[in-house]
Amino acid sequence: MNSILSIGHDIVEINRIQSAYQKYGDKFLRKIYAPNEINYCFSKKNPFPSLASCFAAKEAVSKAFHCGVGPQFHWKSATVHHQINGRPLILLDPLAQNLLQQFNGSEILITLTHTQSLASAIALLVNR
Ligand SMILES: CC(C)(COP(=O)(O)OP(=O)(O)OC[C@H]1O[C@@H](n2cnc3c(N)ncnc32)[C@H](O)[C@@H]1OP(=O)(O)O)[C@@H](O)C(=O)NCCC(=O)NCCS
Repeated sequence: MNSILSIGHDIVEINRIQSAYQKYGDKFLRKIYAPNEINYCFSKKNPFPSLASCFAAKEAVSKAFHCGVGPQFHWKSATVHHQINGRPLILLDPLAQNLLQQFNGSEILITLTHTQSLASAIALLVNR
């Protein structure tokens, strides 16, 4: 049985992510996303809804850790991976693993969604 230790939620306007990409190109992608995230999103006909939900995932995880994105938690501290059935999973870098330990957590569960204009993510920090 999972105990929920913390929660984070974020919502992102997809056109803001598209504008950032149009303005800054690969520099924006490399700053925010891990290579597997870029490959996944650009495997879609329209990458922007998935790029936006991935962005929301990072902010949602940063909120679950109560710190936001900054010195304690970097954009690539949490990366989104997808199982064969499409379910997203969060992998944490050592910085975020350390935060997970501080919360006595064992993992982050994530759910993502998007419409034509908005993308959203909810992150649960749980202890099994
Ligand atoms: C914490 C963070 C993720 C909030 O995201 P946001 O997109 O700015 O704002 P949101 O509307 O999603 O969330 C705001 C709410 O988050 C909550 N929040 C603020 N700090 C928080 C924290 N440390 N932990 C959890 N939740 C927090 C508050 O309820 C806040 O609502 P309020 O403004 O009415 O008080 C954000 O401050 C952050 O770290 N952003 C990344 C920093 C950055 O580089 N931004 C530039 C974008 S390229």
